[in-house]
Amino acid sequence: MLLTAIMRMWLTRSLEPFRFKGDYENRLSFEDVDDLGLYVHIPFCRSLCSFCPYCKVVYEPETAAIYRMALLSEIDLVGRQLRQRKRAGSLYFGGGTPALMADDLEDIIDRLKQYFIITGGIGVELHPADITEENLDELKAAGVTMVSLGIQSFNRDCLSKLGRVGEGYARKLRTLGKAGFDVVDVDLIFAIPGQTEEMLIDDVDTAFSLGATQVSTYPFIDFTFADNDYRPLPAKEKKRMLQALVVHCRRKGKDRTSVWTFAEPQTQRYSSVTRDNFLGFGVSAATLLRSVFKINTFSVEGYIERIDSRELPTSLTLDFTERQRAAYFLFWSAYSMAVLPQRFEAVVGVPLSEMFGFEFWVLERLGMVYKENGCYRLTDYAACLYHNIEQIYTTAYIDKMWNISRNIAFPEEIVLR
Ligand SMILES: C[S@@+](CC[C@H](N)C(=O)[O-])C[C@H]1O[C@@H](n2cnc3c(N)ncnc32)[C@H](O)[C@@H]1O
Ligand code: SF4
Repeated sequence: MLLTAIMRMWLTRSLEPFRFKGDYENRLSFEDVDDLGLYVHIPFCRSLCSFCPYCKVVYEPETAAIYRMALLSEIDLVGRQLRQRKRAGSLYFGGGTPALMADDLEDIIDRLKQYFIITGGIGVELHPADITEENLDELKAAGVTMVSLGIQSFNRDCLSKLGRVGEGYARKLRTLGKAGFDVVDVDLIFAIPGQTEEMLIDDVDTAFSLGATQVSTYPFIDFTFADNDYRPLPAKEKKRMLQALVVHCRRKGKDRTSVWTFAEPQTQRYSSVTRDNFLGFGVSAATLLRSVFKINTFSVEGYIERIDSRELPTSLTLDFTERQRAAYFLFWSAYSMAVLPQRFEAVVGVPLSEMFGFEFWVLERLGMVYKENGCYRLTDYAACLYHNIEQIYTTAYIDKMWNISRNIAFPEEIVLR
């Protein structure tokens, strides 16, 4: 808490916390924003995993059918605000388990295409139980080009500590790897009790050998509202495991594409968070348009009620100050290990050298960043620090925000310090 407050005050040069307000506007201004991404949240799962903090409910066909109609209406509510079709660089479906609505994805994509020209790939998060021939055919017919499979671990013992039974995960990934998608990401969790450095490396090697083009390794986080039987390994151990993995992946010729992702060279990335502007549809989806950040309600009932009354399902809005927007930009750029001064200026409206020239001069001297083709790149040392800071922010900001949002459909205010 103290660290997040100090960092926030230093970067934003202000005592003002991030203040999310319950008021909302029914109009969004996005006609002329650059680098727009689209995100759709499908909150249904077959059963709920104890470790998972995301917004989700147990799948029921009747609720899913009503949700589908509401989602299409939300797309209309937003899309009709455009005078002409707008370009969007990517579309991601996250969850939850989007494949539980595999039959509906094509309709949702078609509806989005009425308003947007999707110039990049279409990505979908998958659970291993979704890997059936029928589902994969349906995804391809709908135009999906990127998939992300939540394996968590190939090791039975690690999986059972997360409360999952993983039958045939390797076979599922092999099938997915052969299905012809441009990007196959595998999500793994590390620092599970009992897991060693070697076991983590083995998981990553297995994922690549079975057809993953990218592997995302997330440090196990024990959210306050989760129901974990086992706690993550201590911070020191997490850091050691990540460092060992970085060395291993470099030796194997993989690219480190963000603090926690590794990829085969010359492959596309699966990444839904690193856009300058994005529109989110569905419960809990976030939208960022220039300096306005908003989050939809986490309540499926609340979402449907708002849409029924032709209102946007926004539960919280934050108007970033210029420096808060800059801090947000730097946070996500640092996650992808590259800060592009040109993009900073385009997004924030002020040259990076003017706002943070001194800080970057110091970071360069400290060996945390280096310049390459006009871009600041993070060193592994800085990425390791980021890994620690990210988890502190997740606990201080995301945990607090999501915990309140899970319990109150439309909170009056949430203040993050
Ligand atoms: C929306 S979730 C899951 C997608 C899919 N439904 C599944 O079950 O695989 C996306 C990813 O977040 C990661 N994740 C979820 N909870 C986590 C936690 N407590 N700590 C670290 N990573 C977590 C997992 O790797 C997961 O695959
Ligand atoms: S990990 Fe996946 S399947 Fe499990 S609750 Fe979270 S979203 Fe649902």
